[in-house]
Amino acid sequence: MKAFVMRGIGRVGFADKPIPTPGPDDVIVKTTRALICTSDSHTVRGAIGPRENLTLGHEAVGVVHQVGSNVKLFKPGDRVLVGAITPDWGDPASQAGHSSQSGAPLGGWKFSNTKDGVFAEYFHVNEGDANMAKIPDSVSDEAAVYCADMLSTGFMGAENGYIPIGGTVAVFAEGPVGLMATAGAKLRGAGLIIGVESVPQRQELARHFGADVIVDFSKEDAVARILALTGGIGVDTAIEALGSDVTFQSCVKVTKAGGFISNCGYHGEGEFVHVPRVEWGVGMAEKTITTGLCPGGRLRMERLLRILEMKRVDPTVMTSHTFAFDDMERAFEVMDKKLDGVIKPLIVFE
Ligand SMILES: NC(=O)c1ccc[n+]([C@@H]2O[C@H](COP(=O)([O-])OP(=O)(O)OC[C@H]3O[C@@H](n4cnc5c(N)ncnc54)[C@H](O)[C@@H]3O)[C@@H](O)[C@H]2O)c1
Ligand SMILES: [Zn+2]
Repeated sequence: MKAFVMRGIGRVGFADKPIPTPGPDDVIVKTTRALICTSDSHTVRGAIGPRENLTLGHEAVGVVHQVGSNVKLFKPGDRVLVGAITPDWGDPASQAGHSSQSGAPLGGWKFSNTKDGVFAEYFHVNEGDANMAKIPDSVSDEAAVYCADMLSTGFMGAENGYIPIGGTVAVFAEGPVGLMATAGAKLRGAGLIIGVESVPQRQELARHFGADVIVDFSKEDAVARILALTGGIGVDTAIEALGSDVTFQSCVKVTKAGGFISNCGYHGEGEFVHVPRVEWGVGMAEKTITTGLCPGGRLRMERLLRILEMKRVDPTVMTSHTFAFDDMERAFEVMDKKLDGVIKPLIVFE
């Protein structure tokens, strides 16, 4: 089969690989649609170290091709969504409620990390019964594929921020993750949602998904504006959806005493991420920092699909480009260099 791989740091291309085979609990999925993630760029730039011939990608849907002997819930031909994170559900971390950390910190992240990813004609899913969900007939593959990571991660940002109904929220960065955090904040009943973003097209999408006010950090001091918008006391919840020291610090600064700073971004630079001491209430203002890695699992995927089925959110408006799998090299370049106003490139398989 054909796979799109990382050959080394900064180098990608196609490779021929054998179609994977399932262990007793596993499933092999024939890929139909995939999305490229900003994290795929981080990987190719060396975030997880050098890799040779590692298949990229972790956001995909497909059709069941083959199932292991213990798999009960799926059969060949089923249309399925697979979480980007595929935990080992018997691991103590999973039993303790931290399935994304199963096996090791971030250990639930296997695709294009510790095993081949989904940018291939077929891919392998560990513990298929627990890590995939059937896609309802009324939900398209093009929509369902957003649940694998974008809805799960963005909604996690809202969930981990414990947004009270009617509460105030600031979302720092309105890329696809921040956009889904914005949609998540709205679903959770936020009373005021402030989106921080400079790119007009992304500002518009943020409004579409529920932002009431847009703050353009390139034109004004985002912290001062958010404090002004909240009567000087700050928001209940600040969501970090970029992965930079600056936005993380801004999140701490705009969160009121007793509030939550919910981190979604990948902090890939520098030795430290800094907590602003005074605005943190010198360690005593009961500001809680939460972190998380895109939750996976069948139950969560089923819940996310229900959101699409009931038309609460339509993530397909984030699809800015569509490429055939054969054009993956170009698609990857467009996403990596953020060319042509790209937000999410959808990859179509035969
Ligand atoms: N925690 C997880 O499980 C998880 C999952 C997927 C992605 N991520 C991470 O989430 C982050 C966001 O991903 P994405 O695909 O949405 O990214 P993206 O690159 O598409 O979007 C980032 C946005 O940040 C905006 N921005 C830049 N500087 C800013 C500033 N100072 N203030 C506010 N906005 C600013 C940009 O204009 C851009 O729109 C990445 O770090 C990614 O690796 C985390
Ligand atoms: Zn992703």
